[in-house]
Amino acid sequence: MKDIFDNCQLGNLELKSRIIRTGLWESQHINNSRLTQDIYSRYKTIAESGVGLITTELIAMYPRDTFEKYTHKIYSVDFIHDFKKLTELVHEYDVPILAQLEFVNFNRGIDMNIDVNDLTMDDIRKIQTDLIMDAKKLSFAGFDGIQLALGNNFFLSRFINPYFNQRKDDYGQDTFGRMRIVLEAIKVIKDNYNLHVNIRINAYDGRKGGITEEESIKMCQLLEEYGADSIQITKPLSPLYFTHEEINNELIDYCDKLSENINIPLILGGGLTDKNRINSIINERNIDFVSMYRPFVAQKDFLLDWKENKESISRCKMCNNCYRRKNSTCYYFD
Ligand SMILES: Cc1cc2nc3c(=O)[nH]c(=O)nc-3n(C[C@H](O)[C@H](O)[C@H](O)COP(=O)(O)O)c2cc1C
Ligand code: SF4
Repeated sequence: MKDIFDNCQLGNLELKSRIIRTGLWESQHINNSRLTQDIYSRYKTIAESGVGLITTELIAMYPRDTFEKYTHKIYSVDFIHDFKKLTELVHEYDVPILAQLEFVNFNRGIDMNIDVNDLTMDDIRKIQTDLIMDAKKLSFAGFDGIQLALGNNFFLSRFINPYFNQRKDDYGQDTFGRMRIVLEAIKVIKDNYNLHVNIRINAYDGRKGGITEEESIKMCQLLEEYGADSIQITKPLSPLYFTHEEINNELIDYCDKLSENINIPLILGGGLTDKNRINSIINERNIDFVSMYRPFVAQKDFLLDWKENKESISRCKMCNNCYRRKNSTCYYFD
């Protein structure tokens, strides 16, 4: 019988529970891109609560592409210094930590928001080189791995999607071609750095001509073949679709199907608030890990209550006010 608080392994990572605190955008004040004591305290509280793995807030790869003003920036001069302190702090609680790396738009000099179909070969090589060099930086900063955002609506999620990508060269045309930009980078990262590579990807796209469930499974197989260590499943417009728990059932069915087609661990997430329901899912379906986000916003250390059987349901109302206000603090409980 599996339990949320089992000691377990996610690829090469040792976890103290099956719960992954998934990524979010930073909304606490940062001074000139420096991490503040409030941010360190938040990570400390989450790390000591019994979480299995932490994924950071979004880390922007490029200037002028920051999601909002407090977004972490990998190109800031103090990045390694501040994040080394953060990874050391989290590691004190034997919790591994992944860096969520992404970009929303690609700019070439003064040309802003280049369309995926207009990227030149030089642009593609630049993106791949930046991914690889950023992985090196994250490794110096003490991260156990990276989470590459191929889901939601980030640039690379558009690049791999036939709805957007109509390229006629080797970086388009079919599933492999559209995935190639990422696959080649993952291979170099895995060959050179001791980093867990987790990929966050949409189960499907939902638009006519977009990624279907079948194609998404094929993409996950390619990711495994090129070295990805784990897959985290999401939906294109999360979290707005994750208001009611029932909505999540189709994602559970998808994960079941995916698990029959890949051999690396997969993480299900979105709309989960109930300990008993999570324990049923991990025991009745082919799913070993779940990701949660809003419950950690509503109460950073709710897992302590779950562990001690004081509570079994998160107090998060799934109202999405934190999302709408572009704020990772809770509308009701902060
Ligand atoms: C305020 C807020 C910010 C978010 N920021 C990100 C983000 O930067 N990257 C990401 O991949 N997902 C982001 N999400 C989506 C969450 O990671 C998660 O997938 C979603 O909230 C569903 O999971 P949950 O029901 O456990 O909250 C955000 C969600 C909220 C509410
Ligand atoms: S604002 Fe709403 S969705 Fe966000 S953490 Fe609070 S109760 Fe949950």
